[in-house]
Amino acid sequence: MCANDREKRAAELGYAPLCLDIIQSELATKRLGTKFHYFQEIDSTNSYARRLADAGAPEGAVVIAEHQSDGRGRLGRSWESPPYCNLYFSLLLRPTLAPAHAPQITLMAAVALADTVAEFIVEPPAIKWPNDILLQGKKLAGILTESSCDAKRIEFVILGIGVNLNFPRERMPETIRDRATSLMEVAGNSFSRELVLRRLIQDLDRCYGTLEDFGFDAIAPRWQARFGLKGKTVRVEMGGDVLIGQAVGIDRDGALLVEDDRGERQRVVAGDVTAIED
Ligand code: BTN
Repeated sequence: MCANDREKRAAELGYAPLCLDIIQSELATKRLGTKFHYFQEIDSTNSYARRLADAGAPEGAVVIAEHQSDGRGRLGRSWESPPYCNLYFSLLLRPTLAPAHAPQITLMAAVALADTVAEFIVEPPAIKWPNDILLQGKKLAGILTESSCDAKRIEFVILGIGVNLNFPRERMPETIRDRATSLMEVAGNSFSRELVLRRLIQDLDRCYGTLEDFGFDAIAPRWQARFGLKGKTVRVEMGGDVLIGQAVGIDRDGALLVEDDRGERQRVVAGDVTAIED
């Protein structure tokens, strides 16, 4: 599709296509945003970024799409990706972290994402372990990290992020309408996708640099400060197992700590967490 057709199609829906020049101008990042791969439509930006990584592309590449036909979420779920209104992008990282520390990338990204959201709206964003950003208790954004490691090193991490920016409620499918929100819905006005994305890549660049240079201890307090479930009774589903207890925070490696009814701290490295109304 040529630029004119793109603009026409976006205008029909009441939107404008992304302008890469605005995103890239004054980006001034150290590691991220080295190259942009822009798509009108793609199956999943994570899948494309993985193919780039397998082909040896260097760190910092950004894959961004106006629309995903097969946007993927955590735990095999799908990610609603209607055209032109939101952000769907993936970053290719080649961290020097030990493979056991790969999950810290997701937590680092949640901190950066929450920081960016807080720069655009007064309503404070909360992090729901490990990867959701909530506004007013509803999901605003999600992170899907996929990595390739051997025993000694991480070959690459694909950091995929979806943000509901100017997503009108009436365009949300019923399956997510009760649980999802958008920046526009909470603020009552729409946002420039370019400005939010530029800021987000800058915040991610800074947070990723901090993690690489100073380790997770420099990130963890910022994560804890935004942890919305702290002290709440939670239900954690881990495969077929269910754990109910009080959310305490995160361990040094990013695992969720939950205190069970015997007062023992359990570590959760993967699972789905929901707050239980008391
Ligand atoms: C989740 O909350 O379950 C994670 C959602 C991640 C969605 C993003 S959109 C860009 C990237 N490409 C994908 O297919 N998924 C991620």
